[in-house]
Order: sequence, then C-alpha cells, then structure tokens
Amino acid sequence: MLIAQISDLHLRTDGKLLKDKVDSVAALEAAINHLNALDPQPDVVLATGDLVNKADKQDFQALRAGFDRIQAPVLVIPGNHDDRTLMRETFGDQGYFQDEKFLHYTVEDYPIRLIGLDTVKEGSDGGELCGSRRGWIDSRLREQPERPTFIFMHHPPFGTGIGFMDKLDFYGASQFAEIISRHPHVVHITCGHMHRPMTVAYSGTAASVAPSLVFQMALDLKPDAPSGFVLEPPGLKLYTWVPGTGLVGHVGVIGDYGPKHPFVPD
Ligand SMILES: [Fe+2]
Ligand SMILES: [Fe+2]
Repeated sequence: MLIAQISDLHLRTDGKLLKDKVDSVAALEAAINHLNALDPQPDVVLATGDLVNKADKQDFQALRAGFDRIQAPVLVIPGNHDDRTLMRETFGDQGYFQDEKFLHYTVEDYPIRLIGLDTVKEGSDGGELCGSRRGWIDSRLREQPERPTFIFMHHPPFGTGIGFMDKLDFYGASQFAEIISRHPHVVHITCGHMHRPMTVAYSGTAASVAPSLVFQMALDLKPDAPSGFVLEPPGLKLYTWVPGTGLVGHVGVIGDYGPKHPFVPD
C-alpha cells in the first residue's frame, strides 16, 4: 500500500500571491502533476489541512476541481485556515465524512486502516482534541486492535523545537498521547501545520509532519527566534509498507531538478 500526503496548500484564487511571494494556484497544479506522474501510483492521497488560505467558497471550489484531476482518491481533513461548513459543502458528496459535527472518519478500504482526525479549535490557530473527539478516536481504535492503523491530522500534538510555532497550544495533547499509548497497532501519526518535515518518537509509535506545498517555516531552532518562512522547495510525503520492516515514510520534493542520473565510475 502506498499513501501520499500533501499539506498546507493555502490556496487563494483571487489572483494575488500568497504572502506576496507564492503562486498557490501554480503550486496546486505542480502537486497535481507530480502526483499523477508517480509510478507506482499512490492508493490514496491525504490532504492534511490548511487547504485554502481564507476559507473562501470560491477557493474551495477551485481546490475541489483540482483534486478531481488527481488520479488517486483524495481524502481531506481541516486545518485552522479551513472551514468545516465549506468543506462539508465542497467534499461531502464523496461520502466519507461520518460525523455531524467534526470532520473525522475512518477508511476501511485498504490493508492499513486510515483514521482522519479533526483538530480544529474554533477561533484559534492552535489545535484541540476535546473530550468528545478523544472519546471518538479511543472508541475507533478499540474496534480493530489487530489492524495496522495510520492516523492523519492537521495540528501536531507534540512540540517541534521551532519556538514561534510551539507557542500555540494543543488542548488535550497529553490525554491524546495517553490514548495512543494504549493502542500499539497505531503504526504512524502524520500531521501538517508546521510547514516543515520532521519526525518524532511519540507515545509508543512514530509521528511526523509533512512539508507544505507552498512555503516552509524557517528552520531556526533558537527558542526566541522570530517567526518567518523560506521559499525552500515544496514537498510531499509517501508512506510505503515494506515487508519485514513496516511503514516507511519518504519525503519527496516537487519541482524539476533534472533527470535521474546513472551511476558512473568516478
Ligand atoms: Fe499551514
Ligand atoms: Fe495550520
């Protein structure tokens, strides 16, 4: 099974550059072309939030039109820049949203069970898994304790060492970590929001963050570093199941860096 993850597209279709610097429409196009050129093709593409920049209906419609051109099925979860109501309007016909309030769901179609979590905290850029959502994920994980399970969510429930991003709280993080510790069949938890790839040992499993499709946060690990972004290449993640090893996560970059070169003697 091959799982692709794209994150933090921040699409704006009003003709303006994102942060005065990035053409998010072109970034979506590049991601679509990159995904469709993958060989082998992913079984599924996870789009982990901050899909549009300002929760605008026109942007969501353009996003849906773009995602419809991706050959593999795409599953979406919300980020702090998105809007649950507009996401339901835009993607609800695909039938995988299972809850009336939150945009969380399980996907049972693949050898690895997928669970999308909704970590949006209304009115905040920080994350949240309230008691209701924590109860939901615990119940889902109890359902199939033997099955490898892959969780995807927008906000990382862990610190990153990037000071200005870690200032935002994630409510319910310690309780979520305690839930995960009781479910060793969780093979990975992947997130977005941080606009930079990273990995961490987390509560008995592994967790990671995907790069953004538009801009990356500066890799500045001074605790008091000012916030800022850099125009490093956009990227995506590919998770493949390797017999004898388990789930392996790769980071790919999007863009033209020339052909594959054969090894020649030096
Ligand atoms: Fe973002
Ligand atoms: Fe975010």
